[in-house]
Amino acid sequence: MTPDQLRQKYLDFFARQGHAIVPSAPLVPENDPTTLFTGSGMQPMVPYLLGEKHPKGTRITDSQKCFRSQDIEEVGDNRHTTFFEMLGNWSLGDYFKKEQLRWFFEFLTKEVGLDPQRLFVTVFSGSQELGIPRDTESVAIWKELFKEVGIEATDVDNAERDGIQGGRIFYYGEKKNWWSRSGVPANMPSGEPGGPDSEVFFDFGAELKLHENSPFQNEPCHVNCDCGRFLEIGNSVFMQYQKQDDGSFKELPQKNVDFGGGLERILAVQNNKRDVFETELFSEIIAQIEQTTGKKYEAEHKTQMRVIADHLKAAVFLIKDGVVPSNKTQGYFLRRLIRRATVKLHQLGGSLNPSSLFTIADRGVLQTYDGVYFDRRVDRDLIDRVLSEEAAKFSKSLDKGLRFFEKQDKVDGKVAFDLYQTYGFPLEITIEMAQQKHEQVDVDQFKAEFEKHKDLSRSASAGMFKGGLADHSEVTTKYHTATHLLQAALRKVLGTHVQQKGSNITGERLRFDFSHNAPMTTEQQQEVEKLVNDWIKADLPVTMQLMQKQDALRSGAIAFFIEKYPDQVSVYTIGKDPEHDWISKEFCGGPHVKSTGEIGPIKLTKEQSASAGVRRVYMQLV
Ligand code: ALA
Repeated sequence: MTPDQLRQKYLDFFARQGHAIVPSAPLVPENDPTTLFTGSGMQPMVPYLLGEKHPKGTRITDSQKCFRSQDIEEVGDNRHTTFFEMLGNWSLGDYFKKEQLRWFFEFLTKEVGLDPQRLFVTVFSGSQELGIPRDTESVAIWKELFKEVGIEATDVDNAERDGIQGGRIFYYGEKKNWWSRSGVPANMPSGEPGGPDSEVFFDFGAELKLHENSPFQNEPCHVNCDCGRFLEIGNSVFMQYQKQDDGSFKELPQKNVDFGGGLERILAVQNNKRDVFETELFSEIIAQIEQTTGKKYEAEHKTQMRVIADHLKAAVFLIKDGVVPSNKTQGYFLRRLIRRATVKLHQLGGSLNPSSLFTIADRGVLQTYDGVYFDRRVDRDLIDRVLSEEAAKFSKSLDKGLRFFEKQDKVDGKVAFDLYQTYGFPLEITIEMAQQKHEQVDVDQFKAEFEKHKDLSRSASAGMFKGGLADHSEVTTKYHTATHLLQAALRKVLGTHVQQKGSNITGERLRFDFSHNAPMTTEQQQEVEKLVNDWIKADLPVTMQLMQKQDALRSGAIAFFIEKYPDQVSVYTIGKDPEHDWISKEFCGGPHVKSTGEIGPIKLTKEQSASAGVRRVYMQLV
């Protein structure tokens, strides 16, 4: 099966079960200030899992582009990538476990043609502390499904300690079989949805495990071990709880299913390949890397080639979705991906010139996904320009940086900082180069050096050390609501020609771009700041309504980018009376504070030009 066939088969299968097929959301979330990247198919679905009505109904399916910056360390093995496509299907208060597990099993065994003997599953073992029971319901369903194909499936506890013990269904706790966007229950902010899940694993065969050099040789064999024998190929989350302010979990008014399965992985098992990098989704990019470096994809080169392939692919997808290399937030991740790939190409012996990256990307990404996520003819220019510019910037200092590195006796935090500051080497590249010399970089010392230099914004340092999530706390929600107040104030003070051109929120400040073709005077800035603070002091309620797009526009709601919204939209209104006495009404996916008083005093800290006809202001909580 080709990737396109598999993707289509999945969408068609779920369309036959009454699901509406929706397109992938972009990799940079549009209305979600709490996270930098779309890292799962469920992320754009959060409002609907919490009860907002989805314009396409209660059964949705898609293939979602995902980028998981936090997985960057894992890339290099046979299955982890920062970029991947997640096949997804959702029940929004519609079907539940019985249908979901049956459909996915049927899809795998009948549509994809996998041998059920090779499938193993896991379920949630329950938690007294959380007050959430063991998922015996899923166990019963799985037993029935396996029985129908002639397999007697037994359920087994403590596989992590005691091994498989001839079982087929395994219980695991919240680390493995609980899913929320923020991970285990303790990490979830209040208000976030989550639930127990059931994963399906493919067994490549016990002989892998017993390989004499395997570091796992003496470990108990179980599906969640990293030895490479088992590959997780799909996860059905029963999204039925919401975390409360007091840390407890309450059942959501509707029971949802959130299913996600990696296209690359299902393709790999369908093609009987243990390595996702050997599937068609990677074969061309690997071939291009082989050509550039003159090395083969084998033995000791595999790890580095996988990192290069993954990073360049992710970079191209990010560029396509509007990210440009920079020292901040999303842009800094992109910069790191490109630079890390460049260093590794160099280390593998590639003779690089500024167009090398694009040559690899063009055949290895644009061509591979042409007509699906790219229009190669149209997108080539943008991808070429961004990759080549970044490569040119970095190549000047790459050789010098490597020579500087070679000259050091010890790679301390100061050296790492010099490499970062003077030669543009992201920290993890230095850490890796140091590891090759069996040395460790003192990261705290690096950070201390970093703090001493004020020429990078604080948000860059947040982005560097936090693995991708912007501050998840309530602060970003406050800034988000403040953005609406700011826009309303700007329109009042400067005129209704003011329209949002972009916004960006970190844990430290909000940034807002808008159309206006002259610098704001000091008086105008003061007036805007005062208006926003007056509205905050007035503690105005923030309310959400679902409306037909046309009605919403008629009621005075403003939209960032009208064409983009579905027919039914959510509108956030700030004011005493959402119909007659309001100061702001915007199309928006939330989240927001419940009333403006929660925001607290805020200051306008900077006003500047963003581009021709576009101004930029920054606000900061005091
Ligand atoms: N949201 C679930 C996951 O990402 C399906 O694994």
